Amino acid sequence: MRVLVAGGAGYIGSHTVLSLVADGHEVVIADDFSNAKPTVLPRLEELAGTTLTSHRIDLTDRVATDRLFATERLDAVIHFAGLKAVGESAEKPLAYYDTNLSSTFSLLAAMRAHDVRRFVFSSSATVYGDSAPVPYHEDYRPLDASSPYGSTKVMIERVLSDVAHAEGFRVALLRYFNPVGAHESGTIGEDPQGIPNNLMPFIAQVAVGRRERLTVFGADYPTLDGTCRRDYIHVADLADGHVAALDHLDQMSAPVRAFNLGSGEPSSVLEMIAAFERASGRQIPYDVGPRRAGDLAEFWGDPARAATELGWRTSRSIDDMCADTWRWQSANPHGYPDA
Ligand code: UD1
Repeated sequence: MRVLVAGGAGYIGSHTVLSLVADGHEVVIADDFSNAKPTVLPRLEELAGTTLTSHRIDLTDRVATDRLFATERLDAVIHFAGLKAVGESAEKPLAYYDTNLSSTFSLLAAMRAHDVRRFVFSSSATVYGDSAPVPYHEDYRPLDASSPYGSTKVMIERVLSDVAHAEGFRVALLRYFNPVGAHESGTIGEDPQGIPNNLMPFIAQVAVGRRERLTVFGADYPTLDGTCRRDYIHVADLADGHVAALDHLDQMSAPVRAFNLGSGEPSSVLEMIAAFERASGRQIPYDVGPRRAGDLAEFWGDPARAATELGWRTSRSIDDMCADTWRWQSANPHGYPDA
């Protein structure tokens, strides 16, 4: 297929571009580079072994989005383009609702106008809300989210579900757990701007000497070692999950289907620190601080549906996630160059 990867220069999008090419698909990257650097593109071409078509475009612009579909022949869309920082979303809710929903509406309108009806959506385990039992299962209701960021995911899932049923779209809703790691080459990876919000990039920046110490947000949770447990997933496994979902769209049992993309195995913050120390050979100094508002003690996903229906499961371990993150971070201590 010829696939539009909306947000294809970002962390998960860029890894998915490589999985798509490896699976024989052709890709068209669309990105506004608001949270990605164009210098990722030549690296992607090098790894893919081919030239890649890319467009600098703001997908909230309906006219520009329609023009893109008028110039590129497309068979499917994978939609990663959106704002994703939970804390920031509480400070700027309107920006989150506007950007995340508007880009989805433009894509859907352009897809309908140009008869492209395959859609894979970058959703999140955050849609299970604060009170779902673990492991999270796709059929759990009601979906809910405590942050504006998470609410955009719940709302977009709903929009896509209605559109799929009414207008003949085929939609896979991919609910990610905690994506970490980097391509095994160490040439592409996660490059957060400013102070990292998430655990793994923070640990990596401490290891490489960009930050002094990590703060562990709470060690008094009702877990074995007192720290929160999460279902970490290697970004290369996650990327392969998108290709499996795309390849399965036409055979899905219903027009819209949600899939958990996780390993099904949670790890604690202290376990992640220990694994990173093993992988990097560096010590990660840390202090235990207070809990972070909104954090749940532990959650992980039931990965059975993706295994049965998509034939996909994770294959990379926590040690692989840490080794690959370290290879990326140590070779690119300041992330991608500006030019
Ligand atoms: C967060 C978001 C989630 C989003 C995901 C994207 C929240 C509440 N949730 O998940 O909606 O989809 O990122 O990857 O923000 N930790 C520390 N010290 C740090 C950073 C994190 O101890 O400096 C701990 C956290 O308390 C948590 C664990 O590490 O227990 C993982 O945190 P993080 O990487 O931010 O992911 P989530 O909070 O699970």
